[in-house]
Amino acid sequence: MARRIAVIGSGYVGTVVAACLAHIGHRVVGVESDEGKLAQLSEGRAPFHEQGLDELLSAGVQAGRLSFTSEVGPAVSESDLTFICVGTPQGPDGKADMSAMEEVARVVAPHLRRPHIFVNKSTVPIGSGRWLSSVIADAAGDHKVASLVRVVSNPEFLREGTAVTDYLHPDRVVVGADDALALEEVIEVYQPILDQSFSGAGSRGIVPLVKTDLMTAEMVKYAANAFLATKISFANEMARFCELVGADIQTVTAGIGLDRRIGPRFLSAGLGWGGSCFTKDISAMIATAGEYGYQARLLEAVMGINSDQRHLVVEKLLRHLKNLRGARIALLGLSYKPGTDDLRDSPGLDIAQRLIERGAFVAAYDPVVREVPNATGVRVVRDAYAAASGADALVLATEWPQFVDLDWRRVRAAMDGELLLDGRNCLDPVRAAEAGFVYEGIGRRMAARPARDEAA
Ligand SMILES: NC(=O)c1ccc[n+]([C@@H]2O[C@H](COP(=O)([O-])OP(=O)(O)OC[C@H]3O[C@@H](n4cnc5c(N)ncnc54)[C@H](O)[C@@H]3O)[C@@H](O)[C@H]2O)c1
Repeated sequence: MARRIAVIGSGYVGTVVAACLAHIGHRVVGVESDEGKLAQLSEGRAPFHEQGLDELLSAGVQAGRLSFTSEVGPAVSESDLTFICVGTPQGPDGKADMSAMEEVARVVAPHLRRPHIFVNKSTVPIGSGRWLSSVIADAAGDHKVASLVRVVSNPEFLREGTAVTDYLHPDRVVVGADDALALEEVIEVYQPILDQSFSGAGSRGIVPLVKTDLMTAEMVKYAANAFLATKISFANEMARFCELVGADIQTVTAGIGLDRRIGPRFLSAGLGWGGSCFTKDISAMIATAGEYGYQARLLEAVMGINSDQRHLVVEKLLRHLKNLRGARIALLGLSYKPGTDDLRDSPGLDIAQRLIERGAFVAAYDPVVREVPNATGVRVVRDAYAAASGADALVLATEWPQFVDLDWRRVRAAMDGELLLDGRNCLDPVRAAEAGFVYEGIGRRMAARPARDEAA
């Protein structure tokens, strides 16, 4: 049955949630406080790059099932359920900054007249469900209002770049609540996704449902991100071993990934993860553990290894170029991963800044990122060849598929130097050498020399 749903926060998650819930038949109002984003959304356009999202947005808006507003109160009071998708960025103490969520709670409080279900999709510290009821009651100035608030945790696992597909065809749906009726109500909202019965779903089979209590659902999200991040840092530690002993990480990860107990995904050695989630969520876990007097040593190591991978590029450049002052570096890739224009905690941008701090000049190209904050000092150029022009070395920071198919001889011809640092191990070292590069990846068996050296 179609429900009236408010989705608060129309960022990377909220916009996808709103568009997809409208697509499966619900009547959705998305709430967004940023006027610029709101104007684009109201025209059925996403304020960021995400495959397939514009189509869903415009279809929803045209069908009259999807609208956007800046008014939280009316959106909530006219809905059966409210999905909360505001940001929970990392605060200065490592914990999640809950101020946006607190603001939402305070704004909705005066509008609550009857029981209402709040579905929490933001990643929040364990125990935030109960906290939300208390903040709303506190803001309403009436402790009885807490009894109107039903909180359901429904963590989101979508990946930017494939967010629409991930939301409509998830590996699982996790819902947790201490109120059985509220839980069933949210499961009802998801029924078209759970049984893949919405229009155009195809025949992918039933989606598993994990039904649990509030705290456990909140914990599932953190544990999932912690595990994925651990896999990445594990691969990167193995890449360090490979560099030390002369083995090849690509073959090592292929060799272990074929073991079904391990699996091949999230085992790519390189510059490590970026994006808005892993670093902040793992920092929040470490901070939470600390509050209980527990030291999350594995997670601390996972974070440390990830940070070291970014420094590794600087070390490699220093080893080859000896001095970075005045060096011209071409950077390919600014978004934290392919398929998105999201720059949050982007390894490419971070590395660029580390290089600029050491006196280097960085010219960067990214297929979708057209500008970066001026303060970074990075010059964004129109294509890979312009980035390479006059460069002493080139760093590939994001594995956009189109980089593999570049005319690498032309890239090399544009450069002054011959060093190609493949921070994502996505290029063929032999082809790079044939194009005239000194190629170096992360944990690959050997640095490939240009073809002319081999012939000599
Ligand atoms: N981005 C991801 O890939 C991803 C995946 C899973 C979970 N998450 C979690 O989802 C949450 C949201 O992440 P995001 O990447 O979408 O963040 P975001 O910053 O892109 O979006 C948050 C949006 O909420 C809006 N907002 C803030 N306060 C508001 C208010 N009071 N009223 C209306 N709008 C308001 C902001 O303007 C912004 O557009 C976070 O907790 C994050 O950890 C993110």
